[in-house]
Amino acid sequence: MTKQKLWWQTGVIYQIYPRSFADANGDGIGDLPGILSHLDYIRDLGITTVWLSPIYPSPMHDFGYDVADYCDINPMFGTMKDFDILLAETHQRGMKLILDLVPNHTSSDHPWFLESRSSRDNPKRDWYIWRDPSPDGGLPNNWLSHFGGPAWTFDEKTGQYYLHQFVKQQPDLNYRNPEVEKAMLDVMRFWLEKGVDGFRVDVIGLMMKDPGFRDEPLNPNWDGKGEFGRLNHIYTANLPEVHELIHKMRNVLDAYPDRMMVGETYLPNDMLMKYYGTPEKPEAHHAFNFQLIVSPWDAAGVHKIVDDYEAALPAGAWPNWVLGNHDQHRLATRLGEKQARVGNMLLLTLRGTPTCYYGDEIGMVDGHIPTEFIQDPPALNMPEFAHIFGRDPERTPMQWSDAEWAGFSAPGSKHPWLPVADNYKTLNVAAQSKDPHSLLAFFRTLLSLRNINPALSIGSYRSLTLGNPVANASAFAYIRQYEDQQLLVALNFTDNEVPLDLPLQGIAQGLLSTGMDREGDLDLSTLTLGPNEGLLLAL
Ligand code: GLC
Ligand code: CA
Repeated sequence: MTKQKLWWQTGVIYQIYPRSFADANGDGIGDLPGILSHLDYIRDLGITTVWLSPIYPSPMHDFGYDVADYCDINPMFGTMKDFDILLAETHQRGMKLILDLVPNHTSSDHPWFLESRSSRDNPKRDWYIWRDPSPDGGLPNNWLSHFGGPAWTFDEKTGQYYLHQFVKQQPDLNYRNPEVEKAMLDVMRFWLEKGVDGFRVDVIGLMMKDPGFRDEPLNPNWDGKGEFGRLNHIYTANLPEVHELIHKMRNVLDAYPDRMMVGETYLPNDMLMKYYGTPEKPEAHHAFNFQLIVSPWDAAGVHKIVDDYEAALPAGAWPNWVLGNHDQHRLATRLGEKQARVGNMLLLTLRGTPTCYYGDEIGMVDGHIPTEFIQDPPALNMPEFAHIFGRDPERTPMQWSDAEWAGFSAPGSKHPWLPVADNYKTLNVAAQSKDPHSLLAFFRTLLSLRNINPALSIGSYRSLTLGNPVANASAFAYIRQYEDQQLLVALNFTDNEVPLDLPLQGIAQGLLSTGMDREGDLDLSTLTLGPNEGLLLAL
């Protein structure tokens, strides 16, 4: 292994949900000047790459994932000048900036769709996916929207249905039309020319659909939660042809120095790895690895997930890990507040690029959203499952201080677009900045250790089998090694004390514990983890 690694391999990504990060003009919605005012905070966390969820013009039916113009900035968030300043200031601080690219669908307000729906013989008709009603006058087939109901909406004017895999204001583009492909590759070039460092590509696996529009088969393992799971989505997702398209996207990136692309991929290992492509036909630099999010949080299960993923990575593919994003309940809510530090320690010490979600560095929890405040389409469309699929709770305003609106907007501003979580008076950046043992202090220390120790950023990974079944069921331990530097990570997933029974002996040096209270020499042969404790040691 050479020490020469690229920024997207050694770095740490921080996802900002722009509506919720910081509101500079007091309209209750976060914006680019708000982000700018907190760039030093982000840099001082030890973050190296900022990812912005969509900032483009949008009628916000899916809060920006319904794009009405791919090459402009939503006035709600600021101007193109604000963006240029943000990009320059991010670079000025030695960080990278990546944007969210949403190629699968546009907004129904996008001029392309307005043209397409205007008549059957419009030149852009075929830019979207239009189908006649079935012979009995009903839906063209049984395809479903991820957000509830059918994936087809009837257009009275032209008498056909159009496809939308999300809300009906998000019509799917037709990538079997070469003009569409060219238009989207040009969108990528537009931002790359500006100096953007890459893209997170939304629902990357959905861009190609079955040309025969066959019905999808029933899913025998459906859990009954939400209609979408009723079918096996073999004709709307992960089609072989999508890989050809992603390879073309990669070629666009590769025409510019040092850019990267990460695909949104909720997939098991065998399918996930395909999104890296092959050495001859590379695709994404990272295929998001969400396995820690979608699996139960227990030591033996997580140990297996990490080992299996490491073993499945193709030669040359760089690993990555994610523990939170704008579509998933908060880390501290899913894992429990007592496990938030263990979760962050795992995320930031595994091999591969970590992606952190704003607010997880202070342990923000899901906010309580009163019914009248619910805004997220899956929660509105499937009220009985709002608590499962609703994404408002993990999108509440960033908790900067104990001031009004948690410092997200200045006092006296409009009510934020989502309510501030109840615990902001005590759980906020300002309070944690003053406390040397806070989660924030822990997060910063951990990231600084990651950034200065090559064993953590680029070293190898090897898990340890502990000496007895209770230890293996309760704790997960692994070694990261680079040249002669060896670091040990040991994490307790339980409320009990766990004697580790390590297959190691001698004295190790404690670098950091989750409680920030166990530094200095520690004897490996008798090492015991406290409840919910994680330790990082130098061997
Ligand atoms: C992705 C986004 C999600 C969005 C959906 C449709 O899953 O992460 O927020 O609703 O795509 O664009
Ligand atoms: Ca604003």
